[in-house]
Amino acid sequence: MRLPDPQYEGDVSLEKAIRVRRTVRSFEGTALSLRQVSQLLWSAQGITEPEGFKRAAPSAGALYPMDIYAVVGAGCVEGLEAGIYHSEPEDQSISLARGEDVRRDVAGACLRQTWMAQAPLNLVITAEYRRITGKYGQRGIRYAMIEAGHIGQNIFLQAQAMGLAAGIVGAFDDEKLIRVMGITKTHEPLLVMPVGYKR
Ligand SMILES: Cc1cc2nc3c(=O)[nH]c(=O)nc-3n(C[C@H](O)[C@H](O)[C@H](O)COP(=O)(O)O)c2cc1C
Repeated sequence: MRLPDPQYEGDVSLEKAIRVRRTVRSFEGTALSLRQVSQLLWSAQGITEPEGFKRAAPSAGALYPMDIYAVVGAGCVEGLEAGIYHSEPEDQSISLARGEDVRRDVAGACLRQTWMAQAPLNLVITAEYRRITGKYGQRGIRYAMIEAGHIGQNIFLQAQAMGLAAGIVGAFDDEKLIRVMGITKTHEPLLVMPVGYKR
């Protein structure tokens, strides 16, 4: 599914977004729009060159070993069924990976941080190390982890700039999270970011 085009201008300054950013752990049930989801995914991994392939976050060797999965609850994003969607940055689209509301299971895999299941959207940032270790060997793993941090901060600031709020979660059982997400084992989850309106 093609997502709405991202906006390149906003009302909140970068300085303000940085100043007010906080990890939020309590969300309202208000649904997000497809435009908001599109904007968040663009900030994470969107293509930012008109004729090129480079993305919103830096990547060692421009090898882009990361994927973003959007875990969407039932009635949580206008125009989207509940499920897990894989982000396809090349054409700003998403594809359905699993058609179930797994928010509770995701929160359960994150050491039962049940607050996460209130968020309409959880963005899961994964790394596929083989895309980067071919060039950089074991050091590529470090580079992918650093890249996850860049992506996470972009999501934080983009959420803040749209009047939304985000959390960040690194405490989870890797195996369990991979299982409940039903994603390929080579995609290792590094961060989960719940996003929504702050309660
Ligand atoms: C890599 C990483 C992992 C984190 N994991 C969790 C987590 O599992 N659960 C949680 O509630 N907060 C988590 N946090 C959020 C931190 O607790 C939070 O960033 C810190 O308290 C500073 O607050 P602030 O982000 O509001 O400035 C994590 C932050 C980072 C950077």
